[in-house]
Parts: sequence; C-alpha cells; structure tokens
Amino acid sequence: MQGSVRFDNVEKVYGDRVLLSIDTFTVNPGQCILISGDNGSGKTTLLKIMSGLLKPEKATVTKNDVSLPWVKAKSMLQSEMVYLHQTPYMFDTSVFNNVAYGLRATKVPKAQVEEKVWQCLRWARLDHLTPRNAKLLSGGERQRVALTRARIVNPSFLILDEPTANMDRGSRHQTYELIQRLQSEGMSIVISSHDVEFFANIIDFHYFLEAGNLRKIDIGTKQRKHKSSAVVTPFQRKGR
Ligand SMILES: Nc1ncnc2c1ncn2[C@@H]1O[C@H](COP(=O)(O)OP(=O)(O)OP(=O)(O)O)[C@@H](O)[C@H]1O
Ligand SMILES: [Mg+2]
Repeated sequence: MQGSVRFDNVEKVYGDRVLLSIDTFTVNPGQCILISGDNGSGKTTLLKIMSGLLKPEKATVTKNDVSLPWVKAKSMLQSEMVYLHQTPYMFDTSVFNNVAYGLRATKVPKAQVEEKVWQCLRWARLDHLTPRNAKLLSGGERQRVALTRARIVNPSFLILDEPTANMDRGSRHQTYELIQRLQSEGMSIVISSHDVEFFANIIDFHYFLEAGNLRKIDIGTKQRKHKSSAVVTPFQRKGR
C-alpha cells in the first residue's frame, strides 16, 4: 500500500543562484496537487527532483517514517513516481508497442501484456490509434498515449509537467478528461501548470512556487467535482 512521501530541506543551486530552497512538501496518496509559478521559477526542476531524475544539492525524503538523503531515496522515487514531460518522448514504433513498453520490461507473461495493453487503450479511447507510429502523432495524442503508458505500470504518483500546454481546445479537453478519470480511480497526481483555472475542479491543493519556496494558495472550501461519476470539464462548466 502506498504512503505519503515527504520532502524536507530541498535545495537546488545553479551557479550562484539558489533556485529551490523548500522547507517541506508532502505528497499524499489519492490527492491531486497543482504547482504553479512563473516561467523559470523551478517547477520542472522540482518535479524532476521529486521523481528521482535530478539530483538536488540537499533534500531529505521520508516515507513510512524512514528518512533518507535524496541519493539513497532515488531508486524508491524512480519506482513510485512517473514523470511525464510536456512533450513526451515516443519510441519510433506503434502506439501499441509504446504503451506495452513498461510492462514488457517486467516479468509479466506476453499474453497478459497484450490483454492489459488493449484494456488500457480502450480505457483511454485510443484503440483507433493502436497501429499508428507514435512519433507521428499530434501533441495531444502523444500526451494521451503517455498517460496511458504511465497508467499501465500503475505508479503510486503521476507527475505531470504542463500536461496541457500548447494544445488546442479539443486536445486539452481530452487530456483533462483522462487526468480526471485517473484521479477518480485513486491515482495520486502532481501537476505543474500555468493554467490554474483549468484544473480548479480536480485539485486538492495548490502551491505557488516563488523565490525558491512553495506558498500554499487557499482554494476555498469548494468540493472537488471529480468524485461524481459525470466528467465535468471547464468548457462544459462555462457552457461553451
Ligand atoms: N542545467 C541547468 N543549468 C543551469 N540553469 C538551469 C539548468 N536547468 C534549468 N536551469 C534554470 O533553472 C531555472 C528553472 O528552470 P525550470 O525549467 O525548472 O523552470 P520552470 O518553472 O519549469 O519554467 P517553465 O514555466 O518555463 O517551464 C531557469 O532559469 C533555468 O534556466
Ligand atoms: Mg517547466
């Protein structure tokens, strides 16, 4: 069973600039956290540190009451957190193979891999793209394939770096819907985005990254709407 992961005294320095100096930050199971902040404030840097992909100068990681320096927690972070880049990397092969990739790296039998991949592609309503070369997909399609590829390995935390940036309205809508469905299934999600209003209905906490530290933003008492079975997107809310 997954537990909370807490990061304390996170420091990242580039040259003579202290980019991050975060006292404490916890990600809890089943929650959706939004991190916003100006361009260059350090959001991507923080998400990569959290995912075990970028070494900070300092950071202590605590899970199940065990505290470790980042270097010793790195492999745990890499296995529990899946980081999705804004323009996800696609292997030069079919969508099916791209989604199967994570499972094929495990000992799951081939027949089960095939079944699971089809199941996930249908879940994401991407089955029509299955034979297409993933490198030739649009940005929105890529993002949805990447979300499906992440879901299939069932990480504890999904770390999404600007998942809807530079997308047209239709792609944003489809990506939002997928994130909302992942969250309603209990997936823990951290999103970095400038688009605070767009994600307002699905987030539990909002932090603003400023001067290297995270400031908690009051999101009021409004109830998250994702718990209802209906998928409500910002477009629908605004009656567009
Ligand atoms: N390897 C590096 N060496 C030096 N500086 C770097 C390096 N990587 C990132 N930076 C700098 O760190 C700062 C934070 O970068 P980061 O990509 O984390 O910002 P961000 O908040 O994600 O920005 P954006 O909203 O544009 O995505 C930027 O000023 C960037 O130029
Ligand atoms: Mg960034």
